[in-house]
Amino acid sequence: MGRIALLLLMGCLGGWAELQYYKYSNASTWEDARQHCSVCYKELVSLNSENIHLIVQNLSTDYWVGLRKDLNGTMSWSVWSNGDPVTFQNWYPGHPTILKEIPPTPTTPTPQTSPGPQPLDNFCHVELESLCRNLTNSTEIYIYDSTKPPSPVTQPQPVVTVEPEPIIENPCTSLLSFGMWMEKNCSELQPYICYEDRFYGTVNFSRVTLNSVFLNWTVGPGNIDHYRLELRGDINITNSTTSLSMDIFQLTPGTLYHIQVFAVKCERDLDPQNTSFYTKPDVIENLTVTEVKTDSIQLSWVKPNGNHDFYSVHLGNNINNTVNSTTENCLITSLSPGRLYYFQVYTEVKDQSIMSDPKNISSYTRPNQVINLTVFSCNSTWINLTWNKNEEVPLIFLVVVSQNGNFLFNQSTNYTNMMVESLTPGNKYDFTVVPQVPDLTLTGENATTTGFTRPCPVSNLTLKSNETSITATWNLTKGNFSQFSLTIQSTGKNLTMNTTSLMYDFTNLKAAARYSVTVSTVVGQLSSDPINCLIYTLPVRPGKPSLVNKTMENITIRWEVPDELNSGTTQYLVNYSSSFWNYSNSVITSNNTITAEFLKSGTYYTFFIQTLADRKMSDPVNFTEFTEPRKKTLTITMQCSSDKSLFCESKNASSNVYAMLQDSLNKLLTGVYYQFQKKT
Ligand SMILES: *[C@@H]1O[C@H](CO)[C@@H](O)[C@H](O)[C@H]1NC(C)=O
Ligand SMILES: *[C@@H]1O[C@H](CO)[C@@H](O)[C@H](O)[C@H]1NC(C)=O
Ligand SMILES: *[C@@H]1O[C@H](CO)[C@@H](O)[C@H](O)[C@H]1NC(C)=O
Ligand SMILES: *[C@@H]1O[C@H](CO)[C@@H](O)[C@H](O)[C@H]1NC(C)=O
Ligand SMILES: *[C@@H]1O[C@H](CO)[C@@H](O)[C@H](O)[C@H]1NC(C)=O
Ligand SMILES: *[C@@H]1O[C@H](CO)[C@@H](O)[C@H](O)[C@H]1NC(C)=O
Ligand SMILES: *[C@@H]1O[C@H](CO)[C@@H](O)[C@H](O)[C@H]1NC(C)=O
Ligand SMILES: *[C@@H]1O[C@H](CO)[C@@H](O)[C@H](O)[C@H]1NC(C)=O
Ligand SMILES: *[C@@H]1O[C@H](CO)[C@@H](O)[C@H](O)[C@H]1NC(C)=O
Ligand SMILES: *[C@@H]1O[C@H](CO)[C@@H](O)[C@H](O)[C@H]1NC(C)=O
Ligand SMILES: *[C@@H]1O[C@H](CO)[C@@H](O)[C@H](O)[C@H]1NC(C)=O
Ligand SMILES: *[C@@H]1O[C@H](CO)[C@@H](O)[C@H](O)[C@H]1NC(C)=O
Repeated sequence: MGRIALLLLMGCLGGWAELQYYKYSNASTWEDARQHCSVCYKELVSLNSENIHLIVQNLSTDYWVGLRKDLNGTMSWSVWSNGDPVTFQNWYPGHPTILKEIPPTPTTPTPQTSPGPQPLDNFCHVELESLCRNLTNSTEIYIYDSTKPPSPVTQPQPVVTVEPEPIIENPCTSLLSFGMWMEKNCSELQPYICYEDRFYGTVNFSRVTLNSVFLNWTVGPGNIDHYRLELRGDINITNSTTSLSMDIFQLTPGTLYHIQVFAVKCERDLDPQNTSFYTKPDVIENLTVTEVKTDSIQLSWVKPNGNHDFYSVHLGNNINNTVNSTTENCLITSLSPGRLYYFQVYTEVKDQSIMSDPKNISSYTRPNQVINLTVFSCNSTWINLTWNKNEEVPLIFLVVVSQNGNFLFNQSTNYTNMMVESLTPGNKYDFTVVPQVPDLTLTGENATTTGFTRPCPVSNLTLKSNETSITATWNLTKGNFSQFSLTIQSTGKNLTMNTTSLMYDFTNLKAAARYSVTVSTVVGQLSSDPINCLIYTLPVRPGKPSLVNKTMENITIRWEVPDELNSGTTQYLVNYSSSFWNYSNSVITSNNTITAEFLKSGTYYTFFIQTLADRKMSDPVNFTEFTEPRKKTLTITMQCSSDKSLFCESKNASSNVYAMLQDSLNKLLTGVYYQFQKKT
């Protein structure tokens, strides 16, 4: 039963239905041959213009073909055993013999020709050409020879006898080795040629899981004994079944398997139905984020069970953002800071026909450091911090407040500024701003700055003065200071100094001068509101006065100014009076000279000069002076009468009266002097 030798493939183009021909060398009756062909193939061969050329090549003997005179009561020689109409005939001349007809003299066949199938060529030229032109309905033809060695029984005309042929009842057709046909007794034993349509089937795979697959396939033609399934991959499985499907288990995930299903008919494998598939790759394990930067995230995972070719990492739902990796980690770059990203990691096979279930993970990128961090000191207990962020993403900022390296407290905000309150006045604070992603899992780089609360103003500023110095004292009841700034000011002159104590002595000042003293608390660059007080230094006595000029009505005096009074703004109070006239006047001057006017002539005036400061006065210096007298002449006539005669004539008497008069007048009018002159 050797068989299946491919003899010829007819060379026309196209994907045609293929017929396969099998020669059987077992000598059988036509009926047995037909029986065998229809069980193990499709039928005995039908000859037509398309396959004849192939089939007659290399014939070594006569073969039964599928034509019988009366098949199923049809018209003689009109139908092939497979039902095809007989459209082509190549009978040996004189055949088939007509029933009941007296046989003519038998002619020797092809006396002049070689055993080659000469007449066949006549057909084939035309038929083959037209066939090859007609690509719409052509046939590819295989011939399989069932004889192992072609039997050397080459008799050009063994069956052709010269004897008059007996009439054969319902004969069968034999293809002679040189290509022509001859009817023969169906019970003769002869080799035969079967044919079958080439079998095209498909194997379907479905329900692919990690370890199993469901296969079903096309039913084979005719009487299929069973199907043999061959699976090749990391394991090889061969199994047979009579059904058209099979579940296969215990496969390895992510592995390529090749499947061949052979329909087996009369122990003959029909052409296999092929497929190959990958089992589903297994899902990765222990997916973790191993490194996060502002613009990249690194993922790592553990290799899944089974096989795989690579991994794909999908960013979000965007199919374009896919990274392939052959190792168990992946660095995803070009990300934006502080954003949330979703990743799906799949295990993949080379042709990407199937992928594993995804493993999901999400992570923020690290946020950027804040920029433009600035401090503004609002007042003594509040500091306003502001900063900028680079990205328009929601972030949370943790503000850590510390002092001299000691943590004080922290506070969070969604905004890019914060009012930090409840601080101590006049202190230095360190501020650290830590950007955080919304779920607080990641922080960015810190930004730090320092700031001061404004110091509090001093309280109870007190000034005490003597003639040339002022002592200032004050208190600071709240907060800290680094120093105090003092300013002393007088008539446009400023002097500023610093101290760290709570008092200050200003010395070498002018007496009787107005001073303004200002004190502010200072910390860093910040000063408190200034506190201000005014005070005068005590006055000192003016210097020695002296007469500058005098008339009958005016007296001008000037006094010396001691050095400590030389402030330019000193004022003097000058009182002058005459007790005789019960007159007094006072003048305030800022010069060191005064002219007393509208005085009485020849009068004695007393001056008191004092230095003035605020409401205080120095001890006075005094000075007295007469105005120039005005001369007046009084004529006094004296009448003398006496009981003593000649008393009035006495010189002594008149001079005595004169002396007494002068005496009494001078006593009476202090400061007024009378001078008498006696006229006779
Ligand atoms: C022969 O006839 C039978 C019944 O009439 C039919 O079933 C069968 O198909 C026919 N065979 C052919 C080759 O025509
Ligand atoms: C080609 O085949 C079609 C039908 O299959 C037929 O109608 C036509 O006549 C054929 N042409 C030739 C040149 O054989
Ligand atoms: C074309 O093929 C079909 C089926 O394969 C067949 O029935 C038909 O007779 C063929 N026609 C020609 C012109 O060969
Ligand atoms: C396999 O089964 C499916 C349905 O289960 C069917 O659609 C398909 O045609 C079948 N394939 C074959 C080759 O039989
Ligand atoms: C499976 O069969 C192929 C060829 O038939 C062979 O090369 C391979 O080594 C076999 N594999 C196993 C696991 O037996
Ligand atoms: C063949 O398949 C059957 C059922 O599907 C199973 O019981 C049997 O073990 C398989 N044989 C082999 C060799 O795999
Ligand atoms: C995955 O992580 C768990 C817990 O950390 C550990 O027990 C397990 O061994 C890991 N799996 C693999 C495959 O490394
Ligand atoms: C992917 O890229 C293509 C071309 O570059 C573009 O047309 C498409 O919109 C992109 N898809 C997505 C989801 O971004
Ligand atoms: C990943 O690998 C597959 C298969 O080799 C390829 O088709 C795809 O384009 C790759 N994707 C990227 C982003 O490289
Ligand atoms: C930081 O400050 C500078 C100067 O004020 C400004 O130009 C810049 O825009 C600020 N940066 C941001 C991100 O706001
Ligand atoms: C400090 O400034 C803030 C904001 O300007 C204000 O709300 C608060 O009352 C001020 N505190 C004091 C003590 O002035
Ligand atoms: C803090 O400073 C910012 C910028 O100078 C300003 O916009 C904001 O109003 C200030 N906040 C308060 C409460 O003063």
